[in-house]
Amino acid sequence: MDVSPPSGPLTRLPEWLELSAHRAATGELDLASLFLEDSGRAARLRVEHEDLLLDYSKNLVTDETLALLAQLARATQLPERIEALFAGARLNVSEDRPAFHVALRAPAGSESKIEGEDVGERVQGVLARMEKFCLKVRSGRWTGHTGKRIRRVVNIGIGGSDLGPRMACRALRPYASSDLQVDFLANLDGDDFATRVESLDPAETLFVVCSKTFATEETLANARAARDWLVGALGDEAAVARHFVAASADAGAAGRFGIDPVYCFEFWDWVGGRFSLASSAGLSLMLSVGPEAFREVLGGMHAMDAHFRRAPLEANMPVLLGLLGVWYGGFLDAETHCVAPYSEGLGEFPAYLQQLEMESNGKSVGIMGAPLDHHTAPIVWGQTGTPGQHAFFQLLHQGTRRVPCDFIAFARAHHRVADHHDRLMAHCFAQSEALAFGSPGEPHQACPGNRPSNTLLAPLLTPRVLGQLVALYEHKVFVQATVWGVNAFDQWGVQLGKDLAARIFAEIETGTGPGPDHDGSTRGLIRRYLDARQAGD
Ligand code: F6P
Repeated sequence: MDVSPPSGPLTRLPEWLELSAHRAATGELDLASLFLEDSGRAARLRVEHEDLLLDYSKNLVTDETLALLAQLARATQLPERIEALFAGARLNVSEDRPAFHVALRAPAGSESKIEGEDVGERVQGVLARMEKFCLKVRSGRWTGHTGKRIRRVVNIGIGGSDLGPRMACRALRPYASSDLQVDFLANLDGDDFATRVESLDPAETLFVVCSKTFATEETLANARAARDWLVGALGDEAAVARHFVAASADAGAAGRFGIDPVYCFEFWDWVGGRFSLASSAGLSLMLSVGPEAFREVLGGMHAMDAHFRRAPLEANMPVLLGLLGVWYGGFLDAETHCVAPYSEGLGEFPAYLQQLEMESNGKSVGIMGAPLDHHTAPIVWGQTGTPGQHAFFQLLHQGTRRVPCDFIAFARAHHRVADHHDRLMAHCFAQSEALAFGSPGEPHQACPGNRPSNTLLAPLLTPRVLGQLVALYEHKVFVQATVWGVNAFDQWGVQLGKDLAARIFAEIETGTGPGPDHDGSTRGLIRRYLDARQAGD
């Protein structure tokens, strides 16, 4: 199946040009008029699947805009590329491998083939091993080196090996075991390590080294510090095998670190870090909430996968979210996208989406390496409501920039604290209403309105709902990558900084100081650092 992007620049496609003409003809749409003139708008511009309701009626679009966007998606072969994604095709062209994360959540027994090889059984095999291990730890049958029960877990990882499980553990705290606390260690700043271990008893602590490559500097530095700390406290190298397990594609490297290969849970080569929550990278989540709830997350993801694969583009939730983003970035000059979950549990969701969207689609060359003549990923940012309301919402309401927002809300809460939840939801609905319709008044009081947003509403933040949300945004990213013609599954841009840091670290460590190849500014900073460091000794 040929799923290469159309030849020539996106902005020269007739479907793009039609959207440009449509934008020029409609001018600045007015949400208040759109609602006034069309009583069916709210009921029509919404889509529901399983637990999620997406209301996208408060967007600056008409039915024609949506039809033209769907036409653009077809012109960029979105339906064919969706099929290719589910067929395990080598969509990650620059790394010559598939991006087959959907296989991780396909139900047992279903066929998941990469070039004729069924990987489904191997996926289920790793899941089963993870489950067995988690049950042992959670029941107390897996003990530490001194025979003590494991009560604390620390996931050591960064990027996709941190943000997904970190976000999900916080979201699913109501489902977590009270006997096992799971924490996350990502930063190379030793403060993170020091504060993390402060409250730990080494004899009761399990470290999950989560690294697809087992080569990431930050993760290895933290894992080594943790190993030294543990061995120092327990006085025996042999303790490492009882207190360290791994999620990695490189069992050899994990073994050299001291991790028993039986407890190195395979991380597939064909799963990108930021799409890896359903893989062994979710081990710390499974330890926290248990295998059953983890399976529920996978079930929710699969439900969204099935919707994405089968629903017509016009009623397809990830497609709609993706195309609306294409519209705002390409035709309405939006540079950023705000995500505001009205849920403390989703406090890490904006940070998780930052990597998912920006590392995937923050590209300026197309799949075949040609420079692009249009914008790609927006700057994704956000915070929970209501704290965000008292921080940056002023700019959303009265600032000079257009910032499309996603609001995420839940009909019910896990807590029973007074009338907090009704109040919280009142704020959520009020914000999207205020952004869309504004209010008249003196210049400094007036809110102009006409500021677009989506609202996602689900019954309760359950494991299954979380799975649906995660897969929704994963597929949104794929939709946008397809239209923009970029490879969502590589991240060459992060390499340069890593290489330079390795060089500078060597210059600092050996005391040679900055080499002549650095620019004057960087040389000056390194020298000043070395001097200041010495002065502090
Ligand atoms: O930031 C670059 C990156 O390669 C991410 O894509 C990835 O999620 C992260 O580093 C961690 O990589 P690993 O799991 O191999 O340690």
